[in-house]
Amino acid sequence: MYILGIESSCDETSAAVVRMGEGERVICSNIVASQIETHRLYGGVVPEIASRAHIEAVSNITYDSLRKAGIGISDIGAVAVTSHPGLIGALLVGVNFAKSLAYSYNIPLVPVDHIKAHTAAAYLSDASLEPPFLALVVSGGHTSIYRVESYNSFEEIGGTRDDAAGEAFDKIGRVIGLPYPGGAAIDKLAYEGNATAIALPSPALGGDTLDLSFSGIKTAALNYINSERQQGHEIARADLAASYTHAIVNAITKKARLALKQTGMRRLVLAGGVAANSHLRAALEDMCKKQNVRLSVPPLSLCGDNAAMVAAAGYFEYLDGNFADTSLNASAI
Ligand code: KG4
Ligand code: ZN
Repeated sequence: MYILGIESSCDETSAAVVRMGEGERVICSNIVASQIETHRLYGGVVPEIASRAHIEAVSNITYDSLRKAGIGISDIGAVAVTSHPGLIGALLVGVNFAKSLAYSYNIPLVPVDHIKAHTAAAYLSDASLEPPFLALVVSGGHTSIYRVESYNSFEEIGGTRDDAAGEAFDKIGRVIGLPYPGGAAIDKLAYEGNATAIALPSPALGGDTLDLSFSGIKTAALNYINSERQQGHEIARADLAASYTHAIVNAITKKARLALKQTGMRRLVLAGGVAANSHLRAALEDMCKKQNVRLSVPPLSLCGDNAAMVAAAGYFEYLDGNFADTSLNASAI
């Protein structure tokens, strides 16, 4: 069946058509209208501007996604939309648009959790992937480890107690003058620096917990930057990028390894915008190889926010009969 996915939780408006069925997981179209250039002016996402830009883009890109897939709205078996979590005004645009479409054309409406959607990206890139597995979702808003026992059952077994890894990258990127969002720029810059040059605290909390905390490393990096500036020194940006990335990647990899050990799971899925980080991908590949664990990581095009992942997650919600009616509301959490 064809599923139309709609995504508008943050700063990308996206519409996609996927064809899902027994042994079939095909992306027919996946259009992403990014607002990054608009928000870059302000160094971060401005929620009101994001909502307005979603309104301007959503109908056109939905039309484009159908046209690119070579189908009409009457071929669609379900409309899947991100209903939570995210920026409330931004989410409301996608939810209201999807509701109107589903109501007007009498198509089942399926609300989708954005985190489950990030994980579902791996179903599209790894045709034989099926639960159970552990999912490590690392994005601008989340850093969590889930035990995924079946397509729709996610149990959070660990994660950050404060900021997300993506937010930690973006914050330091902004302070050292890298373009928003800083994650991708820090990833690149880290290759030019020395990862042991600057001592930073590990975001991995001690002991058997699977939790992390990024506030300490953010503060330590800010203190380093301020102290260097006060002394009139040039910031060693590449060394900072390398040391910061090293500490974050090590901590996430350590907790992923511990989660695999504690649960006995043999499969790991890495998902979310920060899954695009080349150092994190390499470290997890290495760890999984040593632990004899199968790792699934979506291609870069499916790591950031996109509607193909929403449509894929929507398919499994559809199979479980998790429909919504016109009373569906968006939720920030
Ligand atoms: O999943 P996503 O597109 O949006 C949320 O749901 O949050 O993730 C966006 C985050 C941003 O913080 C961005 O800096 C980060 O993903 N990101 C990266 C990389 N590419 C994107 N972080 C580290 N390394 C990258 N290569
Ligand atoms: Zn996301």
